[in-house]
Amino acid sequence: MQQTNGIDDLKIFTPGKIGKLELRNRIIRSGCFEGMSPKATPSDELIEHHRRVAAGGGAMTTVSYCAVSNDGLAFDHEMWMRPEILPQLKRLTDAVHKEGAAASIQLGHCGFFANKKANGKTPIGPSRKLCLFRYSICREMTKEDIVRIKEDFGKATQMAIDAEFDAVEIHAGHGYLLSQFLSPWTNKRKDEYGGSLENRLRFPASVIRHVRDTVGEGYPVIVKMNVDDGFKNGLKIDESVEAARCFEEAGASALVPSCGFTARTSFYMMRGQVPIIEYIKSEKNPLTKIGMALFGRFIVKEVPFKELFLLKQAKRIKDAVKIPVIYIGGVCSLDNMNTVMQQGFEFVQVGRAIIRDPDFVRKLKNGVTHSSDCDHCNRCVAEMANKGLVCAADIKGLKTKNYQT
Ligand SMILES: Cc1cc2nc3c(=O)[nH]c(=O)nc-3n(C[C@H](O)[C@H](O)[C@H](O)COP(=O)(O)O)c2cc1C
Repeated sequence: MQQTNGIDDLKIFTPGKIGKLELRNRIIRSGCFEGMSPKATPSDELIEHHRRVAAGGGAMTTVSYCAVSNDGLAFDHEMWMRPEILPQLKRLTDAVHKEGAAASIQLGHCGFFANKKANGKTPIGPSRKLCLFRYSICREMTKEDIVRIKEDFGKATQMAIDAEFDAVEIHAGHGYLLSQFLSPWTNKRKDEYGGSLENRLRFPASVIRHVRDTVGEGYPVIVKMNVDDGFKNGLKIDESVEAARCFEEAGASALVPSCGFTARTSFYMMRGQVPIIEYIKSEKNPLTKIGMALFGRFIVKEVPFKELFLLKQAKRIKDAVKIPVIYIGGVCSLDNMNTVMQQGFEFVQVGRAIIRDPDFVRKLKNGVTHSSDCDHCNRCVAEMANKGLVCAADIKGLKTKNYQT
């Protein structure tokens, strides 16, 4: 068990820097979809959610997935960046800053698994493709689409700065649009954006370069990327290492190596139980409901949870670049954090342990606890679009294995 003496001296609790941004410690709440933006507009509940996380002692909280364009909306109650939502976002950053933490926002486009109901448009992707997650077929992006989406990333970043976010996190992982360009499974293009790794990197790298040009030197541009899509014919670690170097060169200030493909291996990025029954209950589309009931167990593969499950692959990324690498994946305890720091990472991102208890960081620092009692039941994932992001143990009537009321 970790000694509590001299806890302040542990690297994890010392200040760190991403670009010109100074952070009070090295623990960042990762982007976890909150489902708190009805009509694509951030609610007061979303503000309170992040204020609460900030009050819990972490250095920075990440407002999860915000689409850069409205054809990049993936789920209900998700926001897309536009001038009308800036006052509400500014209230959010003010609330987080008052608690002494920084605020980051995850910007992305979901490409081929866009929710047609949200915008009435045919989804777009690197290549025409059937999406079983949505029962839809996307159209291949034209060169005009490619330029438009790149510019939307720039505009969304500028709006994030106007709302006083301290950092942006570009979503280039989890099978979102930039990751769809990188993945041989979704990118079958025959032009300069498909084929070789260099070509598949062209669009994601151009987006990162454009975002860097928009913000100038020093402003933190964090890039979340995949080390592994989680299936045959997807992106694998050797190509990810090259992608990491390319993103650094394009202007990323820090990288977050993650994994998985939302439309195909959605639980690979988290590991642990697959809450199929809760998923079916929360699904509103009757077709998807029936599909999940019949085939859910076969489609959504369960991958056992392990602490620090991405450490080996993330280390390969860290060794390939000079910019800070933020470790994510199965950080559950102070011991885990110390291990990650000893391996030379500069920061950690934590998802479920902070969903389970927003005071997790403060409790670690005060020696009140050493590890999280989240049992990776993943019911927070099934519930997020319905009730808003919450730990299942906090919903009346539900209990996690480790949780006693
Ligand atoms: C409820 C929930 C929602 C998530 N939503 C997002 C998201 O919107 N964007 C993202 O990049 N990752 C998302 N993730 C993945 C987490 O950020 C993180 O990569 C993953 O949970 C592994 O970290 P952990 O073991 O600390 O939870 C989500 C995870 C959970 C549990």
